[in-house]
Amino acid sequence: MAPPSDDSPPLPAGAISNLLIVIAMQTEALPLVNKFHLVEAPSNESIFPKGAPWIRYHGNYKGLHIDLVWPGKDPVLGVDCVGTVSAALVTYASIQSLKPDLIINAGTAGGFKAKGAGIGDVFLASDVAFHDRRIPIPVFDMYGIGTRKTFATPNILKELNLKVGKLSTGDSLDMSPHDESAIQNNDATVKDMEGAAVAYVADMFSTPAIFVKAVTDIVDGEKPTAEEFLQNLVAVTAALDKSVTEVMKDDVLELMDSP
Ligand code: ADE
Repeated sequence: MAPPSDDSPPLPAGAISNLLIVIAMQTEALPLVNKFHLVEAPSNESIFPKGAPWIRYHGNYKGLHIDLVWPGKDPVLGVDCVGTVSAALVTYASIQSLKPDLIINAGTAGGFKAKGAGIGDVFLASDVAFHDRRIPIPVFDMYGIGTRKTFATPNILKELNLKVGKLSTGDSLDMSPHDESAIQNNDATVKDMEGAAVAYVADMFSTPAIFVKAVTDIVDGEKPTAEEFLQNLVAVTAALDKSVTEVMKDDVLELMDSP
């Protein structure tokens, strides 16, 4: 697999001082909140509009200001607001208010063993695309798929032990036959429920974004996806946190600044 695109220019030296981490699930978010000693922003001082369940934690880590946002829980059903709609909305609101220099979308993903993914592997996505936006009209078809190169981080790849692969995003945990062929067309190694939506919004506002995804389940394996996902969620989140922490090491972030 080729490393992420060299098309995007490196950020100028010292460019990263405001980092935004976008995470979909509380189970994925809380270990990072604790690790970086982030505190929850009080709801009466929220940057988010009244009524939005979105939650922001913030703090300083190694000279960097970090905001970590997650879309919170569905007010009626009480489950994490996973999926593209909530991810796009919270990313939009966060960019408007926080003006981050870099977004890290961190989370779990399903992996394809035929493409080299294993449980607990952590991937840095080279490209993102949607697999459930089928619009069979010329050009609309490409808009629906929405393929984007991610921000190039060759130094992070050199420094850290991450795999590289393409990420395909859709609003379902399981995989229909339609999704399967679209994911194959996207040449994806990992599949999630937020990445391409975060990328769409980040791109709209010219904010560099990277995608760190840890594999909880093997989509082309024997086990039922939901069962395998729930079984591995906590353990694999530890691998995700380790990788995100490594990306945040000051030498790695400095390396990101230089060509
Ligand atoms: N997150 C974790 N596993 C996933 C899967 N199989 N599909 C979509 N998102 C996921």
